[in-house]
Amino acid sequence: MQKVLFQLNDLCFSYFQRTIEKQVLNFINKQVRAGEYLALIGGNGSGKTTLAKHLNGLLLPTSGSLAVDGMDTANQNNLLAVRQTVGMVFQNPDNQIVASVVEEDVAFGPENLGVDAAEIKQRVVMALETVGLAGYRNFTPDFLSGGEKQRLALAGVLAMKPKCLVLDEATSMLDCAGRYRLLKIISNLHKETGLTVVNITHDMNEAALSDRIWVLNKGQIILDGPPRKVFQQRELLHECGLDLPDIPEICRRLSISGLAVPLDLLDSEDLVNYLCQ
Ligand SMILES: Nc1ncnc2c1ncn2[C@@H]1O[C@H](COP(=O)(O)OP(=O)(O)OP(=O)(O)O)[C@@H](O)[C@H]1O
Ligand SMILES: [Mg+2]
Repeated sequence: MQKVLFQLNDLCFSYFQRTIEKQVLNFINKQVRAGEYLALIGGNGSGKTTLAKHLNGLLLPTSGSLAVDGMDTANQNNLLAVRQTVGMVFQNPDNQIVASVVEEDVAFGPENLGVDAAEIKQRVVMALETVGLAGYRNFTPDFLSGGEKQRLALAGVLAMKPKCLVLDEATSMLDCAGRYRLLKIISNLHKETGLTVVNITHDMNEAALSDRIWVLNKGQIILDGPPRKVFQQRELLHECGLDLPDIPEICRRLSISGLAVPLDLLDSEDLVNYLCQ
């Protein structure tokens, strides 16, 4: 069995504004193993971004603890190693791009980690290759499209050789093709290199691509399981402001209109095969 990458014990977090305490995460006890592909879903304000920021030590638990690859994030001495282990990609790539030349931007992360120059060069080439931007090395990031910028942000994270990638609505500003391309790169990395992925998304079809889903509601994980199981809980998801992905929704409607289709299908091909039997 793979080793535990994230260990959350009674994790609570509150934001404090002057004298007002706002508890956002409530006693989360969970584990994520290396190599998992997890989707984190939940309504607006349920605490997803707050939880994501805990995963690489950008926020620290108010009480309880979080260990990343065995390292307690509350220990200052671990912070650099934690940040290196868990790479983050956020919604807006403009907030993550720091340099005025593509290859310098990708080199920024490893430079800060103190990686030597020859190794940085190799990593930049590899990362740009992986995200399909090898021909853009000398470009100014300003001239890239939104999808290309997001792939550049991903390359910058990959150049730090993280064990885990946390994506916080990283595809939400992209069009359909850009979204597909980014997800394909991430899925290949997951399959080929065993990269652990935590994908925060409002897109249920995207969540359906994962191996495991956490549903966050009012700071608690109220559902945890494979997509097939989680998407059986339509009522509960609805209460959290979440819809079913397309295929489970189509199956549900077919079933209501009297066609006996299985309700745990996720893939359009499986549905087509079933209907053509
Ligand atoms: N810096 C902050 N100070 C005070 N409250 C905050 C702060 N950041 C977030 N919050 C509050 O914490 C709660 C959780 O916010 P968070 O951004 O984690 O939710 P989310 O699930 O990511 O939402 P969304 O789907 O809109 O991105 C919200 O009620 C939000 O208003
Ligand atoms: Mg958020």
